[in-house]
Amino acid sequence: MGRYRIGVATGAWLFSGSHNRVQLWLVGARGEARLELRLRPARGQEEEFERDVPKDLGPLQFVKLRKHHSLVDDAWFCDCITVRGPGACEEATFFPCYRWVQGQDVLSLPEGTARLAGDNALDVFQKHREKELKERRRLYCWATWKEGLPRTIAAERQDDLPPNSRFHEEKRLDFEWALKAGALETVLKRVYTLLSSWSRLEDFDQIFWGQKSDLAERVHHCWRDDELFGYQFLNGANPMVLRRSASLPSRLVLPSGTEALGAQLERELQSGSLFEADFSLLDGIPANVIRGEKQYLAAPLVMLQMRPEGKLLPVVIQIQPPSPSCPAPPLFLPSDPPLAWLLAKIWVRNSDFQLHQLQYHLLNTHLVAEVIAVATMRCLPGLHPVFKLLIPHIRYTLEINTRARSQLISEGGIFDKAVSTGGGGHVHLLRRAMAQLTYSSLCPPDDLAARGLLGIPSALYAHDALRLWEIIARYVQGIVRLFYHRDDVVRGDPELQAWCREITEVGLCQAQDRGFPASFQSQSQLCHFLTMCVFTCTAQHGAINQGQLDWYAWVPNAPCTMRMPPPTTKEDVKMATVMGSLPDIRQACLQMTITWHLGRRQPDMVPLGHHKEKYFSSPKAKAVLSQFQTDLENLEREITARNAQVDLPYDYLRPSRIENSVTI
Ligand SMILES: [Fe+2]
Repeated sequence: MGRYRIGVATGAWLFSGSHNRVQLWLVGARGEARLELRLRPARGQEEEFERDVPKDLGPLQFVKLRKHHSLVDDAWFCDCITVRGPGACEEATFFPCYRWVQGQDVLSLPEGTARLAGDNALDVFQKHREKELKERRRLYCWATWKEGLPRTIAAERQDDLPPNSRFHEEKRLDFEWALKAGALETVLKRVYTLLSSWSRLEDFDQIFWGQKSDLAERVHHCWRDDELFGYQFLNGANPMVLRRSASLPSRLVLPSGTEALGAQLERELQSGSLFEADFSLLDGIPANVIRGEKQYLAAPLVMLQMRPEGKLLPVVIQIQPPSPSCPAPPLFLPSDPPLAWLLAKIWVRNSDFQLHQLQYHLLNTHLVAEVIAVATMRCLPGLHPVFKLLIPHIRYTLEINTRARSQLISEGGIFDKAVSTGGGGHVHLLRRAMAQLTYSSLCPPDDLAARGLLGIPSALYAHDALRLWEIIARYVQGIVRLFYHRDDVVRGDPELQAWCREITEVGLCQAQDRGFPASFQSQSQLCHFLTMCVFTCTAQHGAINQGQLDWYAWVPNAPCTMRMPPPTTKEDVKMATVMGSLPDIRQACLQMTITWHLGRRQPDMVPLGHHKEKYFSSPKAKAVLSQFQTDLENLEREITARNAQVDLPYDYLRPSRIENSVTI
């Protein structure tokens, strides 16, 4: 009995408000009260009301909402509802929503305290979570995009997605505007170069204008240097291929007359300073045919030497692996004629582009994040602490991936138009990459150790990735320990165990044999898995996505396609070979446009750990999030100080630049 004060917060997104009328009920343990509110929610506003309730409701459990409309169903984005009372009781009961309210159904919002599933089927919260999951499993269904690849959300186009997984209007407008602006820029560049020659490397300058970063300018000037070539394996757009050599690769056949090279490699190997980047995964992948012209792929191997001051320099490049039917492939050396050595490096950069985009970007971040997102929506109710932990890290992922499948890697999409793995080779390559998608490859402490990249001062990606892993692990542990006091609580949580199975067995197609867990046996196993989830959706995608803007704008540094087969001798490499191999104007313009579109900072980006939505209502959970933010600020300062000391700052894992989810 008494007076309640009710705050209703509406989202700040475009069209979040509604002209429809909203009806509210308070539901307590001892009763329910219908409130005669005449609420017409306004965008970005928190409206407050006071109402007397003549009966004792007991502790509040739910707020129920119903939106009424006569002609137009004007969707409303409700952020949350706060209730104070009865009477002088100042303590607020918080009901998070952060969803669209549409149609005339009654929506029940449970009080925000996270709870695990109970075994009392009559419990109101238990009933609520079961009903919610039933509905979510109807809305979020799995589909097979391509056999042998992770399963995806069942949606042909973005319009088929549930409203709560769509871009907000600002994001949609920006995304579509940027695509149109990019297309216009491409047309202008094509017109501008219509009568120009395309016969010298400098001719790429004709299209090197428009949106570009400072680092892209530097790449433009220094891309031929061996130092910058080597640097990219450590800290470029794709720091994932490099590994320290444990032995000389068997594919590296040293012909007679190269004894000095053999001795040098052996010396480097013994001292632990020999590294390799092997692109064998590309061997035999069918290359694209673009507008009737055959494109080419290679599967190079690069051996690199780590100098004492931390520079990584290429020592030898084998563009193609040996094959029994062909003579031993030539080895390209820094001492070769400059154009031959340059073309060998260009081939490596082209191969790196393919693995970067398909294996490390699309598969290992976007598609893994989508599996996590779909499983979370299907298996974890809103009251579950792991749902509350993960939901900020899956924002927009389903829509960006659906758009990628319908525009980028679709038949006739951008990959088919400009990339040498387009036209089906990309699916083939993704299937091979899937076999390498192990649980440990997604966890930097394991992955970097396996690649021998720990403790190298100039390996900035490795350093920052490990620091972020630690910080995310601390955050995850903080939340997990609030709800799972012992290992048997983990083992006995049916929703959590179903979520784990859904990811490993359904989404990742029986990935138990690649080390993914089929169940959680302990608190620490759960923490490790959740750390992997948050790291993949945030830091790893940040590291892999952002470099496109800097390293791919100057097309010769990372050509999307090659138009001539790899050279088989060094002597015949002329400028015409180099230019005839590199992308043509149309392909190069497309590469610039799309990598700007995908790599630029997103205007509505939410930095890691800084989501505004308050899913947890307990002060302890809020303190854990606040500690996470402090840890991230400290890392930000460390990176700023470190970057001031190095020639090329490494910014992709600066916390303020990492997005809170995969959104682009
Ligand atoms: Fe991305």
